[in-house]
Amino acid sequence: MIAVSEHRVEQHFPTTVLIRTFAAVSELNGSLQQLFDHLEQNPSGDYTNEATLPVNTTQGGYQTKSGLRVLELDHPEIRQLRQEIVMPSIEHYLDDVLKVDPLFTPIEISSWVVSLGAGDWQAPHFHPTEYTLISGIYYVNVPKCTPPEGTLEFINPNLNAVSLGQQDASRNHQPKSGQIILFPPYYMHYVHPMRLDEKRRVIAFDVRLKTQP
Ligand SMILES: [Fe+2]
Repeated sequence: MIAVSEHRVEQHFPTTVLIRTFAAVSELNGSLQQLFDHLEQNPSGDYTNEATLPVNTTQGGYQTKSGLRVLELDHPEIRQLRQEIVMPSIEHYLDDVLKVDPLFTPIEISSWVVSLGAGDWQAPHFHPTEYTLISGIYYVNVPKCTPPEGTLEFINPNLNAVSLGQQDASRNHQPKSGQIILFPPYYMHYVHPMRLDEKRRVIAFDVRLKTQP
């Protein structure tokens, strides 16, 4: 018998997702809910509902323009969200996953709001914008509903392995309030329809490499 001199199993090209859940954020999320309730109930300018546009993947519900910078609004709760939740999570992803030093990686962040109520859902899509490094979602409010209602479904980017029966076609994520999830911008995803009338509200964002000074 010829001896094996090396044996190993490698994972090639993983799709890396970072999930962090924050403690004691109900007060912060309550303030964010109030702020976004106000914007949603008085839609004008940048806060007009774009979910009604046929090109939008949000079906029903409310969505601001995807190119907005909601995370730069001048409100103390938005500042806290950005400084204590979003930025540290982005820095972890840059450092742990993309293996670049956050201090020497100039980035800019676009961010927008998506609210889904009874009967609303989000069609499959991804965020393929040039120089986008990371896509992410912060869950301001996720109603207590029974999966798959309101869950986030990721589509396996390795469709060859799906067609050969080696891998699952999708992977489900059950989000909760106060959680942030970061993933590659090419990772296709959709949101299962809501049945409850309570708003499922998130801030979605894209992190892009800053190419202009
Ligand atoms: Fe998305």
